[in-house]
Amino acid sequence: MITKMNLIILSLLLLSSCNQKENTTSKEDVFVEDLLSKMTLEEKIGQLNQRTSRWEMTGPAPKNNDSQDQLEEIKQGKVGSMLNVTGADATREAQKLAVENSRLGIPMIFGYDVIHGYKTMFPIPLGDASSWDPEIVKLSAQVAAKEASAAGLQWTFAPMMDVGRDARWGRVMEGCGEDPYLASVLSVARVKGFQGENLSENNTIAACAKHFAGYAFSESGRDYNTVDIGTYTLHNIVLPPFKAVAEAGVSTFMNSFNIINGTPSTANPYLQRELLKGQWNFEGFVVSDWASIVEISTHGAAEDLKEAALLAIKAGSDMDMESNAYINHLAELAEEGNVDEKLIDDAVLRILKIKYKLGLFEDPYKYSNKEREKELIYSKENRDASRTVAKRSMVLLKNEKQLLPLSKQIKSIAVIGPLAADKDIPLGSWRAKAVKNSAVSLLEGIQATVSPKTIINYSKGCNLTLGDRGFRTKLSYEENDKSGFSDAIKAAQKSEVVIMAIGEDCWQSGEARSQTDIRLKGLQLDLFNAIKKVNKNIIVVLMNGRPLAIPELAKDADAILETWFAGSEAGNAIADVLFGDYNPSGKLTISFPRNVGQCPIYYNHMNTGRPSAGGNVFWSHYTDSPNTPLYPFGYGLSYTDFEYGELTCSKTTITKNESIEVNLSLTNSGKYEGEEIIQLYIQDPKAKYARPVKELKRFKKVNLQSGESKNISFTLKAKDFGYYSPEGEFLIESGEYYIYVGGNSQEVQQISFSIIG
Ligand code: NOJ
Repeated sequence: MITKMNLIILSLLLLSSCNQKENTTSKEDVFVEDLLSKMTLEEKIGQLNQRTSRWEMTGPAPKNNDSQDQLEEIKQGKVGSMLNVTGADATREAQKLAVENSRLGIPMIFGYDVIHGYKTMFPIPLGDASSWDPEIVKLSAQVAAKEASAAGLQWTFAPMMDVGRDARWGRVMEGCGEDPYLASVLSVARVKGFQGENLSENNTIAACAKHFAGYAFSESGRDYNTVDIGTYTLHNIVLPPFKAVAEAGVSTFMNSFNIINGTPSTANPYLQRELLKGQWNFEGFVVSDWASIVEISTHGAAEDLKEAALLAIKAGSDMDMESNAYINHLAELAEEGNVDEKLIDDAVLRILKIKYKLGLFEDPYKYSNKEREKELIYSKENRDASRTVAKRSMVLLKNEKQLLPLSKQIKSIAVIGPLAADKDIPLGSWRAKAVKNSAVSLLEGIQATVSPKTIINYSKGCNLTLGDRGFRTKLSYEENDKSGFSDAIKAAQKSEVVIMAIGEDCWQSGEARSQTDIRLKGLQLDLFNAIKKVNKNIIVVLMNGRPLAIPELAKDADAILETWFAGSEAGNAIADVLFGDYNPSGKLTISFPRNVGQCPIYYNHMNTGRPSAGGNVFWSHYTDSPNTPLYPFGYGLSYTDFEYGELTCSKTTITKNESIEVNLSLTNSGKYEGEEIIQLYIQDPKAKYARPVKELKRFKKVNLQSGESKNISFTLKAKDFGYYSPEGEFLIESGEYYIYVGGNSQEVQQISFSIIG
């Protein structure tokens, strides 16, 4: 059947081939500009309107008037994009409404929060970031894209690259941690994983850099709260990962709920027009966050929805997610002369270009493929990939007496704790289409790994939560019922070692999941203390989406393995690590505080004017806690030992155009093969503006056999020592610099050199 869109494509292709000789504009430009020229103002505004599905596409018919309205809007070309429509059938049906009914038949783009997997769940982003391995992070995104694209989606609202310093903020689980350089490298890897080499392939999807900008700095870690950061922090900490992915070709950006300097990001022309679309040359489009246009007025920065629409379009927010601001007010604003139609045209062109790149104009249904959906989603291959990523995401925090790895021939093990047999919590929050209770539990993973002769004594001990749990539910915790303790104690008494799974419910972290207390909830610590009395070999397996304040475990557990929410294959991957099939290599990308009062706590802090004691009390400290974290950024143990050789520099001075090489040798002096993440930090001790005590600038993950040594070399350009002034000017200053290298941010060797000229 020749659709309206086919006819348009045909005529535009003819047109573009006629123009080819004189015209250097790309086919894509010719196509979208000609399409734009055919659009009415109303149709243009339709492209800027994004709606969530309010009806069941696979069902027979819309159930109420509201959803009937929505179908009509789509048919009239008033919806350019939808979110939360998933599955080959549902997306095809929805797409048909737009393509076969609207005057120009422009396809919609379908977006969804595919954050760490579509149906095959991978570790949460804070988890896979702990691998410090761009290839591993990329693999997770690649598989997610494969599955999502087979289910009719072309766009994910990921990666989140908000640099998170505050464990109280529940969304730290979605990011890469507290360092802007690491977040840049890993977010670029994630974008490459989602988008592949070519967006028009049917197994890649458009990525979305979010939340632009400053969202993670909500005061006191309370989600959606006010943000008040200076431009110095904005330029040096918040923006670098966004700039990195813009340069790497990310297709879209999402702005954020918060204010920056009093202006909501969604209405912020400096961020979106001047920086992103101006200085950084970003050619994709910006989608608002959910209702963030209407919230401009809730913030008190616009009179009403109409003014909010005006501010948002002027500021460069191209697509309106669920505010109804553009669809209701833009035409009127344009007709009154308050919005220049060129701004609307620019937004439409940006959206059409991404649709073009995705191949939607060639075939609007190419992603909605039932066969691919059946074959690809939740395949064995994808679950194997998830297991590979999961075991590399785990961080060994403690291993006293070398209790780990355990022998698979061990006679008896007690597997205890509210999370030990849980098949749901490891899936994490932001779980897209994961099936409830579909993860491999820790207990199942252990059962599948140990010798058939090993006796496994399982006991839950206590519940973590009470009643319903889920994305929209407020959790309540079990505070009283200890009736399961005696059974757990018996299990511990008759076992050689205890593996105890505790931590968080997965719905404790994620959006709208801020906490003022980040200790273990409910009866978990009581259970740990009771078990500790009867067994001296306790391995704690932590499952959580944020750093926890666990000084008691740090003191009394014999081993602690941080596993985050490890995804569909959690139990198998944890068993791989516990029983030595994989030697843990992850390192923390976010500091673990001793207690919540230290939050926000991060390694790359400023020196302050009073960094140390000098014998009196008047220095920057707490009277009831050390300043240092419980476990610092970059920290993580291995079953083997690594010895760092002497640090040398190729030169003592360089000019601003030169590079310096930093060398050292690394030896695996322990008895297992293992991987080490070598970290290089710098410090500019005397600068025009005060600089952090350390800044990560390079890292390398190397694999060494037992007894093996390797020479490690890092090259740094003078510009790697530069930074932004509060006005956003990039400075490289002459003077002395320190370079630190080590296995975490605190245990390092130091060397210095100077930049001259
Ligand atoms: C709000 C969240 O802040 C954002 O990250 C997400 O992509 C949208 N909702 C859509 O679900």
